[in-house]
Amino acid sequence: MTTLLVAGATGDLGRRIVRELLAARPDAVVRVMTRPGSGTAHSLYGEQDRVEIRVAAYTDHAALVAALSGADVVVSAVSGARAVILGAQRALLAAAVDAGVPRFIPSDYSADYRRVSPGTNRNFELRREFAAYLDATPVRATSVLNGAFADMLTGQAPMILFARKKVLYWSSPDQVLDFTTKDDVARTVAHVALDDAAPRVVEVAGDRVTARSIARMMGELTGTPFGMQWAGTTAMLSGAARIGRRLSRDEEATFPAWQGMQYFVSMFSGEAELQHVANHRYGQQDWTSVRDVLAKHLQVDAAG
Ligand SMILES: NC(=O)c1ccc[n+]([C@@H]2O[C@H](COP(=O)([O-])OP(=O)(O)OC[C@H]3O[C@@H](n4cnc5c(N)ncnc54)[C@H](OP(=O)(O)O)[C@@H]3O)[C@@H](O)[C@H]2O)c1
Repeated sequence: MTTLLVAGATGDLGRRIVRELLAARPDAVVRVMTRPGSGTAHSLYGEQDRVEIRVAAYTDHAALVAALSGADVVVSAVSGARAVILGAQRALLAAAVDAGVPRFIPSDYSADYRRVSPGTNRNFELRREFAAYLDATPVRATSVLNGAFADMLTGQAPMILFARKKVLYWSSPDQVLDFTTKDDVARTVAHVALDDAAPRVVEVAGDRVTARSIARMMGELTGTPFGMQWAGTTAMLSGAARIGRRLSRDEEATFPAWQGMQYFVSMFSGEAELQHVANHRYGQQDWTSVRDVLAKHLQVDAAG
């Protein structure tokens, strides 16, 4: 019987990963690890037969080792800035090593952070820094890289100005942008967790679009033309993010506005574009396209 441990299983992506793991392998036990006082693990998973709940603080190495012991893979879906991506994940990794867990999936789930220029994307550089620790242990790691979450195009990632009928772009409207929905990412993570032969990095993209193709798509979906709006160069956006970061008072915020700008810098500069997309690694899958996400959003909007 396979034991899969998910840290951050009470989060948005973590819950989806647990659901996909349970669906993918009826013989698997999913162990969720949550922090003391976090609260929601018991209400989410208390009634589920194949889910075990372990409570441990990331500062308590012995409790972490006990929680991880016997697991075949650790799937991290924790979220945060330095204190989490490096702090909590290094504690989790140290426990995985001492507990003899053979495999580890870090909480990456992003565009390709490996080549971004230093100083241009804080969250990506934290992942790169953690990867260096991970690669120096005997644990076999697999990172899942998926571009941006497509779900964010309808709100959190303000690239489509729905009311003004414009699609923003920086530098080039023809830069390829990778997007994958959270559900498609979670299904991929479950496949990777159950794949003992998974390579160091698995890249997937539910869809690959450009600002130009999104504008065309929005025109077709709404019956009204959408224009493209040049918002500056990626260098200008990077400068604005740098100023925003300097003025911000909370370096530990996970997704401050300046970090959102940095995400667009990495995507529109092409530095974070996926280069080895392997959507067929786990056979034929139904990938949700950007068009599907936008069509659903427009239907909901029209109904509401
Ligand atoms: N590619 C993209 O566009 C994109 C967009 C959004 C997110 N992401 C990434 O997806 C991953 C999951 O994000 P999410 O939105 O699902 O996260 P989330 O809902 O905010 O929460 C994840 C979990 O992290 C744990 N956590 C929170 N603070 C912590 C701390 N200080 N120390 C240790 N654990 C802590 C919590 O679990 P417990 O309370 O149970 O311990 C929480 O439920 C992250 O890597 C995030 O950066 C990617």
